[in-house]
Amino acid sequence: MSPVSGGVRRNVLADRHVLVSAGPTYEDIDPVRFLGNRSSGRMGFAVAAAALDAGARVTLVAGPVALPTPPGVERRDVRSAAQMHQAVMDSLPADVYIGAAAVADFTPAHVAGHKIKKRPGDAGLVLELVRTRDILADVARHERRPLLVVGFAAETADLEHNALAKLRDKQLDMVCGNRVGTAGSGFESPDNTLEVYWAGGHRRLGPGPKTTIATALIDLLAPRLPAIPEHH
Ligand code: PMT
Repeated sequence: MSPVSGGVRRNVLADRHVLVSAGPTYEDIDPVRFLGNRSSGRMGFAVAAAALDAGARVTLVAGPVALPTPPGVERRDVRSAAQMHQAVMDSLPADVYIGAAAVADFTPAHVAGHKIKKRPGDAGLVLELVRTRDILADVARHERRPLLVVGFAAETADLEHNALAKLRDKQLDMVCGNRVGTAGSGFESPDNTLEVYWAGGHRRLGPGPKTTIATALIDLLAPRLPAIPEHH
């Protein structure tokens, strides 16, 4: 059920700053081509809206998507993983970080200044890629680390194993395992199912609309926030 249905607005995140990343990143190859992925931004935008409904101040760092900004959310648009990293770091401090964006793990080592042309006799093209910085891991290690750092794990196989590895390796408080590559879940779909893990716990959210799942995720994480100290 929506937190605002029946006109009742819960305030479980009142006085909290929630920082959300959403959407894909585009890594430019040349002035006309890029490496991207299938993220529509729907999951992250739904999480941002649900956090707002729960009374939070919300900053949404969005890759290239075709979605309207939930009214009341402060949105920062970016294109590349490097720009998303910068915008997320610039938006700290936050009480909660939720990394729902599908950030490129690799980016071209060089961006060609002009459109890359094919020449007669070319059998193929080799692109050199380099690793991007891991935004989520950097937030979790940051000196102004949010009280709760929540990651996603988009997986086509071994969901639990891979999600738990990300929980541990990136020093997260929660990870949302998201099966992708199947119909009715993950990228682009209006619906989703999340397997949420934390130290010693697990909850399945869905299947259902991303908006409903986002509200359930906020309900799951809000009680795990330490109380606001007096000087906050
Ligand atoms: O946008 P939709 O179409 O609604 O689809 C939703 C979704 C499938 C994109 C979303 O639910 C989801 O699973 N997002 C995470 C996608 C992803 O990139 O997962 P990953 O397993 O590759 O990354 C793990 C985590 O590290 C993610 O929280 C990601 O934001 C973060 N990451 C990854 C690489 C990087 N350089 N920096 C990061 O912060």
